[in-house]
Amino acid sequence: MDKLVIEGGNRLSGVVRVSGAKNSCLPILAATLLSEDESAIRNVPCVRDMNTMVKILKTLGADVEQDGSEIKVRPGRYKRHRAPYELVSTMRASICVLGPLIAKKRRAEVSFPGGCVIGPRPIDLHLKGLEAMGVDIKVEKGYIVADAKKMRGGNIYLGGHFGSSVLATANIMMAATMADGQTVIENAACEPETVDLANFLIKMGAKIRGQTTHRIIIEGVKKLHGAEHSVIPDRIEAGTHMVAAAITKGDITLKDARPDHMAAVIDKLEEAGLDIKLAPGALRVKYARSLKPIDVTTLPYPGFPTDMQAQIMSLMTVTNGISIVTEKIYPERFMHISELSRMGARILLEGSSAIVKGVKSLSGAPVMASDLRASAALLLAGLVAKGRTDVHRIYHLDRGYEKIEKKFSKLGAKIRREKEE
Ligand code: EPZ
Repeated sequence: MDKLVIEGGNRLSGVVRVSGAKNSCLPILAATLLSEDESAIRNVPCVRDMNTMVKILKTLGADVEQDGSEIKVRPGRYKRHRAPYELVSTMRASICVLGPLIAKKRRAEVSFPGGCVIGPRPIDLHLKGLEAMGVDIKVEKGYIVADAKKMRGGNIYLGGHFGSSVLATANIMMAATMADGQTVIENAACEPETVDLANFLIKMGAKIRGQTTHRIIIEGVKKLHGAEHSVIPDRIEAGTHMVAAAITKGDITLKDARPDHMAAVIDKLEEAGLDIKLAPGALRVKYARSLKPIDVTTLPYPGFPTDMQAQIMSLMTVTNGISIVTEKIYPERFMHISELSRMGARILLEGSSAIVKGVKSLSGAPVMASDLRASAALLLAGLVAKGRTDVHRIYHLDRGYEKIEKKFSKLGAKIRREKEE
């Protein structure tokens, strides 16, 4: 297993290219299963979750070829419809093969994804949506077993306790592309990644409208064909670099960033005092004056993304004054607090809000990454901490950030990957 070793205190500056969005790419790769033809997906980030999805596609019988950032999938008449525990347990997003399998094969067996370190992650909305389309669902030996002789469209309300669901919307939208008649998803997610998936499905011949709103309408078609698609840039990777510019008092230009997908993050960082300039296909983020504390509440898009909550908290730990983070998507997503506290951060957790009192400096320490975004937060803290920080268990980071230490080194960070002893 690897760890990252960071010597803090260097200002980051320069240009970095934003990779393709992991959370777009995963459902899009699953969607290729809706056709027998070849699909070519470009701008695929080279991250571990993508390897897991490729393994799932191969397990189902698809032929997959990867060449750098392009993945070609040739599903052909793949025979299998079982996504096994060994793969699903390593990546919850595997659940997004459920919709394509049921649409194309009329049967799916997908291991129940279970809980997760960021808190409970139920899948009731996925199942409710499929049942409303006439799919028979059972849970057997830890697997969701879904059968559909016929699938019909319907009106499906997909709101849960915490608002819309990104992957439930993806699953129902994919299933509905080949159902009989019209499906209307109410309280649908409209995250840029959901829109990207809808755009890919439309290229495959699906009839979808309203994908940028909370009401998506899908007219079922008999057959979909293969398509080519380049996935959108990763707004969370871009946001993580923006926080790196802020925390190191740096100046970073993000090539290929999509500011139109990042309004909430830009707004909060500007409120903190960062100088942010938008240009077509790029974003320049510059530290210009001492930063002010901010209050952030995570919400479904276009609100502040939960996937940026841990990173912005790292910035708050060294911002003079009191900042507050309220988590409204995953109320228990605070595993990073104990590790940030080991570096000298002062954070009080009150229910689903964290009250952060900025300190003058953090001190480097050995810390343990617990999930993908928590790991990014520890890395950011390490960039500004005094002395050496060892971030252990970075396989979490490798799930979702492409060449992270290389990108940060190029910007001037002292960071290296080492094998754990
Ligand atoms: C996606 O997960 C992302 N994953 C997550 O990113 C992200 O944190 C999340 O959306 C929210 O933006 C991928 O796209 C692969 P949800 P998803 O269903 O779709 C509740 C990362 O770090 N809910 O939108 O699984 C749920 O518990 C990852 O890259 C139900 O109640 O999340 C949560 O409170 C982590 N019932 C809320 O909805 C359900 O059936 C939103 O979750 C489904 C969800």
